[in-house]
Amino acid sequence: MSERIAVYPGSFDPVTFGHLDILDRAAAIFDSVVVGVLENPGKTPLFTAEERVELLRSCLETRPGVEVTTFRGLTVEFAASVGAIAIVRGLRVISDFETEFQMALMNRRLNPRVNTVFLMTSFSNVFISSSLIKEVCQLGGDVAEMAPSVSVEAMHRRFATQRAPHG
Ligand code: PNS
Repeated sequence: MSERIAVYPGSFDPVTFGHLDILDRAAAIFDSVVVGVLENPGKTPLFTAEERVELLRSCLETRPGVEVTTFRGLTVEFAASVGAIAIVRGLRVISDFETEFQMALMNRRLNPRVNTVFLMTSFSNVFISSSLIKEVCQLGGDVAEMAPSVSVEAMHRRFATQRAPHG
């Protein structure tokens, strides 16, 4: 039987415990999962795509069957390029559903052979998002229970650099 591969695309700016929760759930269902970090020239992320990949990679040592790479362009094309049969997306709250539903149907229109699989996050991760964590961390809040230590340390370093006086 052929390997059942899924892609898990996203910004991962930076990776949170919410992402890892979804990743572990996906890894339990599929033979392998390829995490795709979107290189999005339209957005200004806190971390470069390479930095986001590195942060994710350092969380993967204990996760066999999971790899991470960057991608540009359409998610469905990225999925096809690695032979994936599914796109994994995490759902936290009802408000996620509207956009995710729209994206899933668009992706199905673009490539009907690739299905989107929604996985529900743990209750404890419902309020976690990369953007909220960045905001809280930048303002001095404790986010240690919301993201892996590599992400938290990387944010501290980045925000310290941004605060450093110029000239
Ligand atoms: O982590 P995010 O920012 O919620 O991830 C969004 C992502 C990367 C999954 C979405 O923006 C995406 O798929 N972008 C790639 C371009 C694309 O395929 N657009 C059409 C999607 S319907």
